[in-house]
Amino acid sequence: MGRSWGFLVGLLGAAWLLRSGDGGQQGPETAAQRCFCQVSGYLDDCTCDVETIDRFNNYRLFPRLQKLLESDYFRYYKVNLKRPCPFWNDINQCGRRDCAVKPCHSDEVPDGIKSASYKYSEEANLIEECEQAERLGAVDESLSEETQKAVLQWTKHDDSSDSFCEVDDIQSPDAEYVDLLLNPERYTGYKGPDAWKIWNVIYEENCFKYNTFYSWLEGLCVEKRAFYRLISGLHASINVHLSARYLLKETWLEKKWGHNVTEFQQRFDGILTEGEGPRRLKNLYFLYLIELRALSKVLPFFERPDFQLFTGNKVQDAENKMLLLEILHDIKSFPLHFDENSFFAGDKKEAHKLKEDFRLHFRNISRIMDCVGCFKCRLWGKLQTQGLGTALKILFSEKLIANMPESGPSYEFYLTRQEIVSLFNAFGRISTSVRELENFRNLLQNIH
Ligand SMILES: *[C@@H]1O[C@H](CO)[C@@H](O)[C@H](O)[C@H]1NC(C)=O
Ligand SMILES: *[C@@H]1O[C@H](CO)[C@@H](O)[C@H](O)[C@H]1NC(C)=O
Repeated sequence: MGRSWGFLVGLLGAAWLLRSGDGGQQGPETAAQRCFCQVSGYLDDCTCDVETIDRFNNYRLFPRLQKLLESDYFRYYKVNLKRPCPFWNDINQCGRRDCAVKPCHSDEVPDGIKSASYKYSEEANLIEECEQAERLGAVDESLSEETQKAVLQWTKHDDSSDSFCEVDDIQSPDAEYVDLLLNPERYTGYKGPDAWKIWNVIYEENCFKYNTFYSWLEGLCVEKRAFYRLISGLHASINVHLSARYLLKETWLEKKWGHNVTEFQQRFDGILTEGEGPRRLKNLYFLYLIELRALSKVLPFFERPDFQLFTGNKVQDAENKMLLLEILHDIKSFPLHFDENSFFAGDKKEAHKLKEDFRLHFRNISRIMDCVGCFKCRLWGKLQTQGLGTALKILFSEKLIANMPESGPSYEFYLTRQEIVSLFNAFGRISTSVRELENFRNLLQNIH
């Protein structure tokens, strides 16, 4: 049976499962091999290899992306960390200082960011009028005809059927701006039963139920498997960060964060994790490719001449837009993009239902983030799920597809500033993880 079965499963993109079973390596594996055995050579569900991704990310993309994310536009993220957990009550608010998030003083955040999601140069006034009308909730007769048309267009954008996330109401008085640079994602000590409960719910309740896990996974269609791999990739990425920015030393004078190889091994070593770790790392690359593809696809939206990374500082805003476009063009030139057309491609009705399922499950996951007890982790959890949700919205938006690529920039497709900030910061996190893997690979080289 081996061959034809293998071929079938391979068609479904599940070869990675089988391959993980044939661990016929010679001789004892080194510590590095035990973590990285699955992340070399070709990845499944796509035609690319890890080495190409590493080179592309670590030397071309990563440094410029970091620079972009340090700009005012991208460093301030508005978030409501006080939303109640919709699923259970007994949240252990972790009292650790490292869990605390320090919100911005309102005068720290540039006015341009606070005043509106973003503005278009000549149309700034028009948009402001629109937003005002929108807040009033109706198309006011007294508005100019042009404005009325724009308002209608605007509300159409707010089409939540496209959205993969339940987003915070950023008008709520509980929503506050956070400076992401001052609240970096790193080890907080939040782990054990509470953290485990969150991931458990995410996997068990939302990953389309898995019990006899691997036989289940083999039987799944490509979309459901992809969903699981995205979540697993996100989990892996977060764990890479926590291992790379581990609290190594604490005295009352200073705190020192850095790489903890032991922690990394506990999360990713093939033997210590019974084979799970290397698979998780592989899923991290899968997630990387998905977000990369979304960014390449959304380029026309950012190329619109009227799009600005508006903070109010004209010179800086223009420079940042240039940097952003440079990065996106680079991403577009990546030769081995994931083909999202393999998703939701089958029978139309079936595909529609799957996509809807996918969306509902993902929304659920974004709600679970409100149950994370450690505020720092909640912040980054929310940001990264919103970012991934935005990537999925881009990949599966029919509005964008309908307008691509010949018909030029799409004016129907729309991203809010929050979506833009989360999209790029989330990708920045995955990009950092891929970069960190190289560091860990080197560190592990000296260990057996
Ligand atoms: C590294 O992490 C392990 C747990 O995985 C911990 O026991 C150890 O103390 C950490 N090392 C340092 C230097 O903090
Ligand atoms: C969402 O999560 C809740 C609580 O875990 C669960 O009861 C519900 O079935 C989930 N819905 C979906 C669509 O996953």
